[in-house]
Amino acid sequence: MENKNFKNRRDKVLEQMTNGVALIASGSMHIRSNDTEFPFRQESNFYYLTGFNEPDCLLLLCKNDKRSKVCLFLREKDPKMEMWVGKRLGVKVACEVLGLDEAYDIAMLEKELPALLKGYSSLYLDTFSDNNYLNISKKVSNELFVSRSIDISPRNFIHLNTLLEKQRLVKEPYEIEQIKKALSITTKAHHASMAMVKPGMKEYEIQAIIEYIFKKEGSEHDAYGSIVAGGNNANTLHYVENSMSLKKGDLMLIDAGCEWNYYASDITRTTPVNGKFSKPQQALYEGVLDAQEKIIKSIKPGVSKQLIQEKSELLLAGVMHDLSIIKGSFEKIMEEKLYKKYYPHGIGHWMGLDVHDTCPYKDVNGNEILFAEGMILTIEPAIYLPADDLDIPEEYRGIGIRIEDDILVNSKGFENLSSDIVKTVKDIEGICARDYKEFL
Ligand code: GLY
Ligand code: MN
Ligand code: MN
Repeated sequence: MENKNFKNRRDKVLEQMTNGVALIASGSMHIRSNDTEFPFRQESNFYYLTGFNEPDCLLLLCKNDKRSKVCLFLREKDPKMEMWVGKRLGVKVACEVLGLDEAYDIAMLEKELPALLKGYSSLYLDTFSDNNYLNISKKVSNELFVSRSIDISPRNFIHLNTLLEKQRLVKEPYEIEQIKKALSITTKAHHASMAMVKPGMKEYEIQAIIEYIFKKEGSEHDAYGSIVAGGNNANTLHYVENSMSLKKGDLMLIDAGCEWNYYASDITRTTPVNGKFSKPQQALYEGVLDAQEKIIKSIKPGVSKQLIQEKSELLLAGVMHDLSIIKGSFEKIMEEKLYKKYYPHGIGHWMGLDVHDTCPYKDVNGNEILFAEGMILTIEPAIYLPADDLDIPEEYRGIGIRIEDDILVNSKGFENLSSDIVKTVKDIEGICARDYKEFL
């Protein structure tokens, strides 16, 4: 994306500020063990406002009644370090390359900050964060204040995230395009996994083909840890070990999605390991699928997440009642929320730069934020039936089903951005019968 688009986003933040400085920290490297590090992934708010992907930066958006300016602290060039771990942009060219007003060496943060913060009355920052650079900024503000200098210095601390996250909730056309691209790769990966799975394979073999396709297609990161869960493992919601054998007669739940240019995709499909759903598996699967399709169809501007949550509970409780998974009257199942034992989570979440996008569900008064054009959310109804739960009829024990798609709210209602990924019993069985190499 061009610098001017990042500038537009920063300008929108600045418009909402009165006299003050907004501070947004980048991510930093994290140690995995001893001297090896986890792969670096930029902090989403920082990326959203800069498009810059180096660690150890601090962005300053400064505004008073006369003017606004944008400053960046970043790592200075260092030939020795660059030889070992890669190139750095450096201070000299940062303003020109990134379209900013001023750039400074992050090593000089404590020294340079007092002059930059003087004259402003508020700091806008993530007040919950323990980030080192934000802590230094708070310390500098405090020192300016206690020095009793005649200059105004920041004494007001305002939670910046509330402002930024509201802005990130409605996606720009560019952002929707990135998510569509991520989904086109994720589509291939899910189809390949359906075609590849055979009894006796290990869950991690399927994980490998999925992540191979993500990488081969140019995705830099997985949007989250891939879940490949055979049989009863699907009933562990965040199962990421992916270490067991896939058995004939079991289902395999895959929750995996890649990132494209920092934008996520988040897809779950549930597939029979031997290519054919059994009767009880099909009955349960089609119940969840029918619920999912009805929920998706009810999405349009003005509808609330609470409403579709209630709808999902009603529909999935109906499936559990109709298949006698929970005994007793439908009224009792609803009244006592008995369905929660097997459908314990929400119907979905916002998605964007983060798979669980950090956007609000309620406004500052506690009112539900209603769906509006440009918002993207997942719809992921599920039923989890643990193998050791003797209350469940035997033929359903050990089955876990989740079906997850990524939905854009638009002026007509909705667009299912992941509608290319097959999900009917017939279509899944059709792909299972094909050669996975067709999808590579
Ligand atoms: N993949 C995480 C989720 O579905 O929320
Ligand atoms: Mn999800
Ligand atoms: Mn998911």
